[in-house]
Amino acid sequence: MKKSSDNCVEFCFLAEPTDVNFGGKVHGGMVMKWIDQASYACAAKWSKRYSVTISANGIRFIRPILVGQMITVCARIVHTGKSSMHIYVVVRACDPKDHNYVVTNRCFITFMATDESGYPVKVAKFTPESEEEKKLEQVAMHAKDFAIQLDQDFEKQLGWK
Ligand SMILES: CC(C)(COP(=O)(O)OP(=O)(O)OC[C@H]1O[C@@H](n2cnc3c(N)ncnc32)[C@H](O)[C@@H]1OP(=O)(O)O)[C@@H](O)C(=O)NCCC(=O)NCCS
Repeated sequence: MKKSSDNCVEFCFLAEPTDVNFGGKVHGGMVMKWIDQASYACAAKWSKRYSVTISANGIRFIRPILVGQMITVCARIVHTGKSSMHIYVVVRACDPKDHNYVVTNRCFITFMATDESGYPVKVAKFTPESEEEKKLEQVAMHAKDFAIQLDQDFEKQLGWK
């Protein structure tokens, strides 16, 4: 039986001078790394398995992040398939002196739980309970359908696998 806290993880840290790009703001690739790390931890916690990233869907850069801001990266399971875990990630930033957080990034990211040989393994089912969880699951499924459609478009229209 899973506890209600089993479906989420939260990272909290300061944006460092080594995280910036040429424009002086935190590099988009660094934010993607944080998202991937937090969602990996979330997937591993849920499945108790090594898990691999399948797809990051709808990643959004809403506001820039500045060096010295305090960052939280919250990742939570919103849907499970057979081996897949669909995770909603939200990144927030604030000045540590005032704790006035703003949302800087959000996305859905999907992981697959694997066995020791890299084959998919079944994961425990996540059942959304609150209204918000049910809506998030629906939105995640739209994002997944869109991503799978994109794969099909590349293959059918351009011949790219
Ligand atoms: C992950 C991988 C094994 C999946 O292979 P695949 O043939 O595409 O897998 P499938 O089509 O069987 O899909 C596996 C699951 O992902 C889901 N899925 C596939 N494409 C998806 C997408 N674009 N978005 C969300 N979910 C997707 C499927 O619905 C399926 O879910 P289920 O097991 O719950 O039914 C393969 O793509 C791979 O090895 N990718 C590289 C992984 C990697 O290196 N990640 C970065 C380092 S961890």
